[in-house]
Amino acid sequence: MAHIQLKNISKTFGNHTALTGLNLDIADGEFFVLLGETGAGKTTTLRMVAGLEKPSEGQVFIDGVDVANWGAAERDVALVLQQYSLYPRYTVRENLEFPLKSKIRRIEPDEIKTRVDRVARTLRIEHLLERKTDRLSGGEMQRVSIGRAIVRKPRVFLMDEPLSALDAKLREALRTELKNIQMNLGQTFLFVTHDQIEAMSMGDKVGVLNHGRIVQTGTPYEIYNNPRDTYVASFVGSPPMNLIDGKLVNGRAVMAPLNFELPFAGGAKTSGATDGRPLVFGIRPEDVYLESGAPVEARVHDVENHGVEKILTLRVGDAMLRATVPARTDVEIEQPVRFAWDPDKVVLFDKASGISLRHAG
Ligand SMILES: Nc1ncnc2c1ncn2[C@@H]1O[C@H](COP(=O)(O)OP(=O)(O)OP(=O)(O)O)[C@@H](O)[C@H]1O
Ligand SMILES: [Mg+2]
Repeated sequence: MAHIQLKNISKTFGNHTALTGLNLDIADGEFFVLLGETGAGKTTTLRMVAGLEKPSEGQVFIDGVDVANWGAAERDVALVLQQYSLYPRYTVRENLEFPLKSKIRRIEPDEIKTRVDRVARTLRIEHLLERKTDRLSGGEMQRVSIGRAIVRKPRVFLMDEPLSALDAKLREALRTELKNIQMNLGQTFLFVTHDQIEAMSMGDKVGVLNHGRIVQTGTPYEIYNNPRDTYVASFVGSPPMNLIDGKLVNGRAVMAPLNFELPFAGGAKTSGATDGRPLVFGIRPEDVYLESGAPVEARVHDVENHGVEKILTLRVGDAMLRATVPARTDVEIEQPVRFAWDPDKVVLFDKASGISLRHAG
C-alpha cells in the first residue's frame, strides 16, 4: 500500500537547479513512469522519494504522511538500479535471503525459504539459486536484483533504468515480465527511464520531465495523442511527430517556409486556431498517406524497411517529412509521390510558446 505525492518540490545543488516546482501524484498500485532525457532530474526525484536526498523546497507524502523526517529505512522502499549491486562471492539464494536476514526483521528460516523460492519462481531463476552471482549473465543478474527488491515486500518500488544495460531482446522480455509482476503484486511502482518506448509500453501513467519540470502527466494514450507541447510531441513516438510551421487560411493549412497547402476542415480545429495565427502543425507519420490524386507532391528521400511497415522520408522543397506506410507500398528513392494527411489527426501548437491549442487556457 502506498500513495505517493510530491508537492511543489525544488532541488538545487549549489547554484544548479535540478528540479523546479515538481508535482506528482502516484496512486496506490499504479505503475508510474517518469520519462526524461539525461540530466532531466529523474534519479534526483527517485532519491528524494527514497529518502536519500532532501528537497530544497516542497514535501514528499507517503500515504498522506509528510516523510521529511523519515530516513531511507523507515520509508520502506526498494530501489533497483541500472547497475546491479549483488554480492559476487555469494550464491543467488544467499543474495535473495540477505534482505530478510536483518536482525530487526526476525523472520523465521522456514518463512525465508518460502519467500525466496516463491520469488525465484516468479522471476524464473529457480535453476540459478545455488550459483554464484558472478557466474550470471546481465539479464540473470538484473532478475536477481529485482528479486532482492521483491522478496522483502516493500511499500514502494523505485526503479532507476533497471533495463537499460540489457540487450534489446532481453529488455523487451523483462519489460513484459516486470509489468506482470507489478500487476500481480498490485504495488506502487515508480519507474524511471529515458526510453519512450519503455515508458509507453509499461506505464499506467507517464510523467514527462524536461529540465527539472514536469511538462505533462497522463496515460500513454493521452501523451501520444494529445501532447501538451512540441517537446512532448517530438520526444514521444518513433519516428517522432512531424512538426511543420504554417498558418490557417480559409480552411486550408498553408505551410511556410515549406511551401505547400493541405485541406484543414472542421475536425481538428480548436478554439484559438484563428486565420493567420502563426502555428506549428503536428502530424504523426502514420497519419500521412500516399495517394496518386493527393494534393502535395514530394520526392522519396529515404526508405527504411521495418518488416510490417516502411518509414519513408519525403522531401518537399528542402524540408523533410516522415510517413509510415504499409510494407507492400512500392517506392524507390527519388521517386515523385503525392501525399496528404488525415486532418482530424493534426495537432495545432502555438508557434511562439510551443503549447498545444487544446491545452492552452
Ligand atoms: N549530487 C549532485 N551534485 C551536483 N549536481 C547534481 C547532483 N546530482 C545530480 N546533479 C545534477 O542534477 C541534474 C539532474 O540529475 P539526475 O541524475 O537527476 O538526472 P537524470 O535524469 O537521472 O539523468 P540520467 O538519465 O543521465 O541518469 C543534472 O544536471 C546533474 O548533473
Ligand atoms: Mg539517472
